[in-house]
Amino acid sequence: MKKIGWGFIGAGSIANRFIKGLVQVPDAYLAAVASRTYDGAKSFADKYGAKVYTSVKEMILDENVDVVYIATPHTIHKENTLLALNMGKPVLCEKPMAPNADLVSEMVRTAREKNVYLMEAMWTRFFPVMEKVRTWLNEGIIGKVSFVTADFGYSTPEDPSSRLFDPNFAGGSLLDVGIYPIAFAFMVFGKKPNRITGLADMTSTGVDASMGCTLGFEGGGIASLYSATNAETPQVAYIMGDKGRIEIPSFWCPKEANLYIGNNLEESFRQEHEGEGYQFEVMAVQDDIRAGRLENELMPLDESIAIAEVMDALRKQWGMSYPFE
Ligand SMILES: NC(=O)c1ccc[n+]([C@@H]2O[C@H](COP(=O)([O-])OP(=O)(O)OC[C@H]3O[C@@H](n4cnc5c(N)ncnc54)[C@H](OP(=O)(O)O)[C@@H]3O)[C@@H](O)[C@H]2O)c1
Repeated sequence: MKKIGWGFIGAGSIANRFIKGLVQVPDAYLAAVASRTYDGAKSFADKYGAKVYTSVKEMILDENVDVVYIATPHTIHKENTLLALNMGKPVLCEKPMAPNADLVSEMVRTAREKNVYLMEAMWTRFFPVMEKVRTWLNEGIIGKVSFVTADFGYSTPEDPSSRLFDPNFAGGSLLDVGIYPIAFAFMVFGKKPNRITGLADMTSTGVDASMGCTLGFEGGGIASLYSATNAETPQVAYIMGDKGRIEIPSFWCPKEANLYIGNNLEESFRQEHEGEGYQFEVMAVQDDIRAGRLENELMPLDESIAIAEVMDALRKQWGMSYPFE
């Protein structure tokens, strides 16, 4: 079987983490990297025997690039994605797919018009632990789910020069990490919410330092979610039903989930993995591409649009828009 060659756009922080998962997948390899700075990317690419381009377009054109991984800041995802899709190359785009739902919709529309694969890199979905959680949910072991809580907060000094705090780069905790608890609630309830309410505390640069939101789902079910760049939180998710609950420590990259019936621990599922766990997402994308699928069943494109719509609705409630909107 021919190995699948990946072309990265951007050689920053996530590119350096994601590659460690990619190299664990036997039929995947880094073919090329496109970077604004040749020297910076060269040492990265050399480690993996990949070519370096300073032109994104030339990198995508490289005959060894079978799939493009977009690892640039949120605000550049659309431009990169449209270029690759229009050139007929499948795309794995980092989360959030784009800063708002209009932009995400345009990306999805292009993928569908061109019949080219696109997925948002919501890597949480592909961990074996999440598969086990979905199995427990599908088997109805905890009964009807009424409540989900999930938090993703970390504390980092407010640095106006960082993309994280810069409104021009769609900064803020919501798009950086709040998307994880929101996507988690979507996965558990299997639909988009019909009620959305939230609050945020802002940084001095005008993006959300922290946010809390409540989502309500048709037929019953509430999610209480939190994200922050100014608080160290436990980063745990709970799913509560009328027969029991599931607890997932480090829910966004889990190695463990605990099933309780009533208040008794019934089963503890543990699955160690090498490194951070990006390999599961890489394998999912490769399986899709080899099977000729145009989107991923666990992270479908309509869901990426719906998640972006929730984040838009929250920002509207806070009166927070980005300068380019
Ligand atoms: N899935 C995850 O676990 C995870 C974790 C962290 C971040 N992310 C996502 O990945 C994306 C990148 O985040 P990051 O933390 O890797 O950011 P980063 O360290 O700033 O890296 C982004 C890279 O994009 C490239 N780039 C191209 N055009 C740029 C521009 N105009 N301004 C700045 N950089 C530009 C740069 O690489 P060159 O200099 O080589 O061109 C830069 O190093 C974000 O959307 C973020 O949400 C995902």
